[in-house]
This record gives sequence, structure tokens and C-alpha cells, in this order.
Amino acid sequence: MAENWILEAEAKIRKKLPEVVKRSVHKVPYTSKNGVFDDWTNNIAWWTNGFWGGILWQLYHVTKDEMYRESAKELEEKLDATLMSPEDMDHDSGFRWLLTSGANFRETGKEESYRRTLLAACNMAGRFNPVGNYIRAWNDWGNKEKLGENAGIAIIDCMMNLPLLYWASEQTKDPRFYHIAVKHADTVMEHFIREDGSVIHIGEFDPYTGEFLRSVGGQGYAHGSAWTRGQAWAIYGFVLSYQHTKKEKYLECAQKIADYFISNIPQSGLIPVDFCQPGNCGWEDSTAAAIAACGMLEIAKSVGGGEDDLYRKAALKLLYTLYEKRCDWSPETDAIIQKCTAAYHDKEHEFTIIYGDYFFIEAIWKLTGQELFLW
Ligand code: GLY
Repeated sequence: MAENWILEAEAKIRKKLPEVVKRSVHKVPYTSKNGVFDDWTNNIAWWTNGFWGGILWQLYHVTKDEMYRESAKELEEKLDATLMSPEDMDHDSGFRWLLTSGANFRETGKEESYRRTLLAACNMAGRFNPVGNYIRAWNDWGNKEKLGENAGIAIIDCMMNLPLLYWASEQTKDPRFYHIAVKHADTVMEHFIREDGSVIHIGEFDPYTGEFLRSVGGQGYAHGSAWTRGQAWAIYGFVLSYQHTKKEKYLECAQKIADYFISNIPQSGLIPVDFCQPGNCGWEDSTAAAIAACGMLEIAKSVGGGEDDLYRKAALKLLYTLYEKRCDWSPETDAIIQKCTAAYHDKEHEFTIIYGDYFFIEAIWKLTGQELFLW
């Protein structure tokens, strides 16, 4: 039986979202300005452009309201421009196509959506470096003098994209995608997870020999610090790899990272941008809280022996804190989750970000037993 606040959160999502979607039906939102969603239709290759689709499909799943499906279909078609441009594709294909065409295929069985999702998986598999056993994160930044500059870069976030490869193997009964996902996850286990359970953001390999060269500071406070969203991607990503492979080592790894995260949750329950940021810096990242909570709820489902309680309680603390302190339920404003941060060293902090809303809704749907599982 769900706790009262969870049912209240569910009711508030169901009340607010129809208003938001009505006025945003043709948009591809990332953030909001003065309460109004922006629109990334003209920057369609941006990595976050699938999350709006995820929100729409989660809502369609429980309401069967055609407005959600129509808007999601429009977004799925817009994403084709990226899918057909190899130079625009990166490792974030899971975020974009599992939550759009993948969701459409799961929900409606549409053939065209199946093909889009498989094409995205093929592109992602093509990013695998077979001597380093990692999936290349980004393309070059466009500097012709520095061709291959990102050929050796892998990032922790990619753990959340691996389910696209597991999906492709499950669908085609061809284990190549699965093998690539497992090899990448093993590489991340070896080089990205620190002794204390915290994780690095960016790893650099020699793309010709496969040798691991170094870790590089990324979106967190500093090299060697613990960027909270990176920790969250790792928690959720590893437990998903466990669920798809049944390899215990991935579950143990997800637990180790989650244990580190849990032991660093401040008394307030509000999550900083980086667990190692200076004490006088109060910048928060609510997306890290929502993503980590989703991962912990999946760990709670996967572990036995009474250990589930620790992860479920921590997830509920994170989500309840967001519900109490960081949700905007006004029907006049578009985003729900406040105080999200893209990167510690960016000029701006603490705004709304679409995947904060996506993962909060996903978590509430998990707790109320109505999630369309998309990973
Ligand atoms: N995947 C990039 C980020 O989490 O900001």
C-alpha cells in the first residue's frame, strides 16, 4: 500500500501534466524560462531530447489519452533527423530512442518504431572500441586539427544507455549487442569505480592500444570529486545491467555505489551537485536525487535477505524531500522539479531540467505500480 504522499504526488502529476502537455504539444523541452518550457526542435541532436517522449509515454500508458501519443509521435519523427546523421549521433542513444521509439514499440508494437530503435542500437554498437572494450562517448568537437580527439573517451553516463543494447539482443536473438554492453560494463567496473564506492565521470583510453590512460574531471567540482549525477547514472546503470544479465557482480557494484551515495545524503535530503563541493557552496542538483532514487528502487527489487529495506528507505527519503521542497505543482508553470544543475562549473545553476521531471515521474510510477518499464 503506497504511502499517502506518494498517492498525492501521483494525483498532482495527473492533474498538472494535461495542462502542460496541451500548451507544449509541439515542443521538445529542455528547461523553462519564467515557468514556460523552451523548445529544442531546432537543436534536435541534443542528448536530452528523448525525455519529453518518456514523460508522454508514461502518461499515455496510464491514461490512454491520445494527446500524449500524438505529441510523442511528433517527437519520434523529429528525432529521425539525428538518426539519419551519423555525425550527430553519440553514445546517448538509449536516452533518446528507448524513451521514444522504444516506448512506442513496447506500447503499440509499431514496426517503424522497432526499426528506429534497432537502428539506434546498431549505431551505438558501432561506437565500441574492441581493443579498449569501451563505448566511445562523444564525436570530435569539430576541430579539424584534432581529428580523433574524443576517440578514447568513455563516460559513466553511458551505463544508462546500455539497456538499448540489451533490448536489441533480446529482440533480434543476436548476442553481439549484449556482448558489447557487458564488455563496456566490465571496463567501467575496472576503471571507473573507486575503492570507497564513488565513481569517476570521464575515462580516457588510448584508442589504438586500449590502455586506460587517466580519469579526467567532468561536470562535477574537480578531478577526483564525486559528481552526484554521475553517481546516480552508475547506480541505476549497474542495477539495470544486473537485471538484463543476472550477473551478480553488477548488482554488487550498484550496491557499493548506492552505499556511498546513501552515506553522503545530507540531513536535509537535498542533493548537492557534487558530494565533494566546498562546504560554503549550496548548489543542488535535484536530477541526481530523482535518478538515484529510481536506481535504488530497482536495487531494492533485486536484492534479497532483507537488504532491500535500506535502498527503499533511502529512495523514499530522496523522493519525499523532492516532493516536499522541490516540486512546483502550479498548473500555470510547465516544469515540476526545481533546482536542477547541468554542471558545477557552468555559469547557471539550479533551474529546471526535463530529465528531473522524467525520473521523478518514473519513480512515482514505480511506487504506484504503473510504470511502463523502458530500460
Ligand atoms: N549525460 C550528461 C549529463 O548527465 O549531464
